[in-house]
Amino acid sequence: MSRTHIRDFHGDDLDQLVRLWGAVTDDAQAPIYSLAEVIASCQADHAIVAMRDQELVGAAVGRAAHAQGWIVFFGLAVPDPDGALAAGLLDALERRMAALGLAKLSALVPESQGLGPFTDNAFSVHRSVRYLERAMPVQRRELDTLKEVGGRILPRNLWRKVAGMTQEKTLLEERLVTPLARPDLAERFGVVPPRAVMLFGPPGTGKTTFARAVASRLDWPFVELFPSRLADGGGLAGALRSSFEAIADLEHAVVFIDEVEEIAAHRGGTPPSPTQGVTNELIKQVAEFREHDGKLLICATNFVRALDAAFLRHGRFDYVLPIGLPDADARRAIWSRYIPAEAVTRVDVDLLVEESDGLTPADIEYAARRASQDALARSLREDGADSVLGTTDYTRALAGTRATVSPEAIAEFTADIETLARL
Ligand SMILES: Nc1ncnc2c1ncn2[C@@H]1O[C@H](COP(=O)(O)OP(=O)(O)O)[C@@H](O)[C@H]1O
Ligand SMILES: [Mg+2]
Repeated sequence: MSRTHIRDFHGDDLDQLVRLWGAVTDDAQAPIYSLAEVIASCQADHAIVAMRDQELVGAAVGRAAHAQGWIVFFGLAVPDPDGALAAGLLDALERRMAALGLAKLSALVPESQGLGPFTDNAFSVHRSVRYLERAMPVQRRELDTLKEVGGRILPRNLWRKVAGMTQEKTLLEERLVTPLARPDLAERFGVVPPRAVMLFGPPGTGKTTFARAVASRLDWPFVELFPSRLADGGGLAGALRSSFEAIADLEHAVVFIDEVEEIAAHRGGTPPSPTQGVTNELIKQVAEFREHDGKLLICATNFVRALDAAFLRHGRFDYVLPIGLPDADARRAIWSRYIPAEAVTRVDVDLLVEESDGLTPADIEYAARRASQDALARSLREDGADSVLGTTDYTRALAGTRATVSPEAIAEFTADIETLARL
């Protein structure tokens, strides 16, 4: 049998190393370190190969991370009955990496791979450990585009933080989140994932909150376009076009246009209104946007009836969803969010839920903050003497809170649901 020679990796070995990597990684057990990572370590860190007759028959590749070294690849192309080949490779890698002053050398080994080579070389096995990973929502090549369009990744928990609103949440979950997050499931049931939706409802009911929560839930970057700000410098239509062009480079995005009636109100009249060109551009961009997978456009408006009929027409927006005033359950959840845990047992939440009927989440938030501030101020005036936050602080704050949404506006909203909503 010909002699096996163990030596440092050279650039010329790359082809063979890639072949070895392919041969020893199986589909059932996806490798933890991708081939790209292994190659990067070969070039920048430490790699040892075993050669027999010009053939690469084994490799061990390591990476230093501060005081801990990681073996990012270990594989043999030939049988190694006495373990000599494995031991030689691991020894050589360890010697090279020891020069860095590492405290320990670690390896993540797929369940299907034997541990023998490692335990024979004095590695101990940690049985209590499980491996976790998360794919980053934005890849490096998208970072510049994301910055250009002012997009960002939102915190992961925004969906959970939307209190109550069970009906709206269920609807958004079923219509938007699930088909987009689980395209496999959508396809199985013949559901076409939505591309664009319109949220409408009185101000302060949570349209912006829901748009952000959907992005957070999907783990997609959130890109808000501000019609009023887009225009500075050039024309609004051109600015809109270039924003959408940049967004097209992103793999995933939730694009949000708030108060869309500003740029998509009724057109017509002679002479045509100055925003008509902008509305036309937006209609064109929505059509274009609809051509691609993996992105969602959410528009929001307080005045759905003011929107241009062509803009709202079937085929542009998959759904036109009302976001209404919070019901009792939602109000209870919103109150519970803002009443401090310390005070909640003392406060008659049922009463507050009842008295806040007709208020928006934003109104309730305002009343709750107001109650807290007033109670704090009172406690300072009274020099702290047993002053606590109680029900009357809340009812007093409620009495001083004007409902954002008038009864007439509610009547209009109810009529809009009848005529314009598309669930
Ligand atoms: N379901 C909710 N739970 C808790 N807070 C909410 C909820 N909906 C809205 N809010 C709060 O109310 C305020 C206004 O909501 P927003 O989403 O801006 O309303 P809109 O966009 O419909 O005008 C925000 O401060 C938001 O945090
Ligand atoms: Mg808003």
